[in-house]
Amino acid sequence: MSPDVMSPDAKSSIIDISKEDAEKFSLTSLRFKHRFAESGLFEDDALAELIETYPGHLMTVYTTTQQPDGSYLWRYGSISGLTGEQVLEAIQHGHLWLNLQHIEDAAPRHAALVQRAFGDIANLNPGLRTFRHNTGILISSPDMSVLYHCDIPPIALWHIRGRKRLWLYPDTDEFLSPENRERVVLREQEEEVPYSPSFDQHAKVFDLEAGDAVAWKQQAPHRVDNLDGLNVSITTSYYTPEAQRFYGVVFANGAMRRLLGVTPTSRNTTGVAAMAKCAFAAGIKYSGLLKSRERVLQTSFQVDPREELGYVELGAPQGA
Ligand SMILES: [Fe+2]
Repeated sequence: MSPDVMSPDAKSSIIDISKEDAEKFSLTSLRFKHRFAESGLFEDDALAELIETYPGHLMTVYTTTQQPDGSYLWRYGSISGLTGEQVLEAIQHGHLWLNLQHIEDAAPRHAALVQRAFGDIANLNPGLRTFRHNTGILISSPDMSVLYHCDIPPIALWHIRGRKRLWLYPDTDEFLSPENRERVVLREQEEEVPYSPSFDQHAKVFDLEAGDAVAWKQQAPHRVDNLDGLNVSITTSYYTPEAQRFYGVVFANGAMRRLLGVTPTSRNTTGVAAMAKCAFAAGIKYSGLLKSRERVLQTSFQVDPREELGYVELGAPQGA
């Protein structure tokens, strides 16, 4: 373990990013380097201990099952009764995805790495203000994929172990229609959005190794294929004042389409119209007029390292 990486007083940067790129952080897609692994927090033993001590309500395990129509169903499972080592073993050879959510609340030493990285970026870009950081640690099997989707806030991905391929698509209506963007922001649907393989020729493809980081523009559609090895990554969603305005404008556009029957034509985040939209969005949110649907998590499998896929079904699989 490098004491420098773990020290809150460390002078050296935990990331390697140019000033020019730091000044574009959150505005476009960027690739840079980080040194999170030097903390020793992501070795097998440390991960096993983290899993064992992590609050259960902030930890979710998934698998995906292909449906007759070719689509993939995400299902939630349980790791109850297992040691952290057994969970890691199941993920290593199975078909599983473990998400340790809100490390700001539950894993302060891990969260400190992310805070240092954001601090380093802000040192190079003093005008950057980020807030509402929400960071998760993702531990996933060598063959897992995350289908085409868009997240609501901007994202930074800090890749730590294994190899994965990130496909990042242009943030235009052709790749994400205004209606679908609004549905995601209004939380009327999961983050998955319609995808065509023809999109791939327009994607930026990032093959990520340990120590690579990528940050991209808010709501840019993307998908991820793990390539090999146990994959360990950290993802941080965050807001900037600009990202918060963009959220407000897209939310307002969706609300106007639903409540007023008009077709919004702009996602500009500056000027009087944008300010009015943000105020309108805040009013609608507080009124509960377009209340998002609660997502009910139903457990349908139990993680089991003795099984080939790393789990056993609990009763009949959903959607079968
Ligand atoms: Fe994502």
